[in-house]
Amino acid sequence: MSNINQSSVAFPPEVLLEAQEIIGRYPEGRHKSAILPILHLAQNEWNWLSPQVMDYVADMLKIQPVEVYEVATFYTMFNLQPVGQYVLEVCRTGPCMICGADEIIEALEAKTGAKLGGNSPDMRFTLKTVECLAACGGAPCMQVRLKREGGIHKYYENLTPELLDELIANEWV
Ligand code: FES
Repeated sequence: MSNINQSSVAFPPEVLLEAQEIIGRYPEGRHKSAILPILHLAQNEWNWLSPQVMDYVADMLKIQPVEVYEVATFYTMFNLQPVGQYVLEVCRTGPCMICGADEIIEALEAKTGAKLGGNSPDMRFTLKTVECLAACGGAPCMQVRLKREGGIHKYYENLTPELLDELIANEWV
């Protein structure tokens, strides 16, 4: 993962090749169809999608920047500001709310120092809410993007404040 150089955003050669291969799956004039995988590549590369990064993606797909902004702002999986080492995404849909998602959010705010929608002062955590994670049977639940494991997402179900203590002390280190 590289830092964003605001003046010259560009994929490194190996990522550029991957992006070109993805774009090449679509016919000329239909390159916009590659927008989701290209945004994922961009987020993997820079950790978040700055306006400069989104403009770069627009240029690459030969579309207007606003078309990229529309997509990036629609999906909660895209980060529109710098994020911490662990992105905690708590489900806020009905079954999880009924089973205590609010309590989990409150506990996470208190234990991590990150306010909902923001980062902890040490940039270790980012706290967000998302829609149903398709794990309603394990409500309340959340997914966490684990930067140290290459950005994979891990699910945590049947959350309790006590379990959060354990995760913060032993897993998210
Ligand atoms: S409502 Fe939370 S996972 Fe479905």
